[in-house]
Amino acid sequence: MMKWPNHGGQPEIIKQLFDIKTDRKFLDFSANLNPFGPPSWLKNTIQRHYETITRYPDPSYSKSSEAVAIHEGVEQNNILLTNGGAEAIFLAAKFFEKGKAIIVQPTFLEYERACRHYHIDVEDVLYESGNGFKLLMPSLIEKLKEKDVVFLCRPNNPTGTVFPKEDLQLLVEEGKKAGTYIVVDEAFLDFLPSSTPSLSNWIASYPNIILLRSLTKMYTIPGLRIGFLMAHPSIINVLKNEQIPWSINSLVDAVVPNLLEDRSFVEHTRAWLHEQSEYVRRTLLSLDYYMSPSQVNFYLLQDKKQPKRTEDLFLFLMEHGIVTRHTHNFKGLNGEFLRIAIRSKDENRQLLSVLQKWRNET
Ligand SMILES: Cc1ncc(COP(=O)(O)O)c(C=O)c1O
Repeated sequence: MMKWPNHGGQPEIIKQLFDIKTDRKFLDFSANLNPFGPPSWLKNTIQRHYETITRYPDPSYSKSSEAVAIHEGVEQNNILLTNGGAEAIFLAAKFFEKGKAIIVQPTFLEYERACRHYHIDVEDVLYESGNGFKLLMPSLIEKLKEKDVVFLCRPNNPTGTVFPKEDLQLLVEEGKKAGTYIVVDEAFLDFLPSSTPSLSNWIASYPNIILLRSLTKMYTIPGLRIGFLMAHPSIINVLKNEQIPWSINSLVDAVVPNLLEDRSFVEHTRAWLHEQSEYVRRTLLSLDYYMSPSQVNFYLLQDKKQPKRTEDLFLFLMEHGIVTRHTHNFKGLNGEFLRIAIRSKDENRQLLSVLQKWRNET
């Protein structure tokens, strides 16, 4: 049995695992970060704030929190800055320690890990892979009444699909009646067109919603570690007490307001994504591949003509210098799809030409 790595973005580990002896640099389609980031000004700005590392950060991170609150149109007491989206996930899970959860799957693996860590009993509810990853709502609504929390990723990793807003509202309303919380991870929200806003304006009406965010993906800063959690102040106060002191470092605290102000970087990214995802979709359809109805910067791929040969396709791509993300450890996918990032025009073209080759040769 092959040992598959747990996360994407590890081309060197993949090389070792598959014993690939080449110095050739792999094109990494397995990580779902913005290929344009970080914004070009960030390096100088971090350098300018170098001195801040000699001091403890402001424990309330007031400037960054204020910038996030303004950006999201919520109050500062609705916000808790976190050490990446990952800390936001673990803090949210802590709130339901020893409780009962639903995780809507296939999705990001850390919800399950966080639930296990806090002894939360988990029931998985699956999207239908044969139906564009839609969900049977009546069954979920029935089940949520007996649970403390539902974890849902929107846009969802790894499918890239966006849970319909009307359905989510129904969940949140049913949850409110039943005393069930809905945790929505919006780590990839910034990649959606501005016509699909955050749910942050729901916080005021729904005390049972917890929103998780990350700046990692849009700004390509997985090493900086910054995210935040938005919820009713009563939840924020509890979680603040659970958080490790100075969880956010002073360099990040110094640059959060600048990152949020840089709207042109986000707009530029969205324009690229719109253009490239159209191009990739058109080409994949013409080559008879399945592409999940993703709205963000990655998608699930399957060879419609040979759905059982995904592992061979993974290896074929690797032999041609392209690393994708296997789906062996995503519930309900069983390795039958590959998760692939949308990258620059030139890189997408290289990927598509290898997929064309696979089509011609197999
Ligand atoms: C859906 C989702 N949420 C959260 C995270 C974690 O982000 P961060 O690096 O900010 O902790 C990831 C990272 O892959 C993710 O895919």
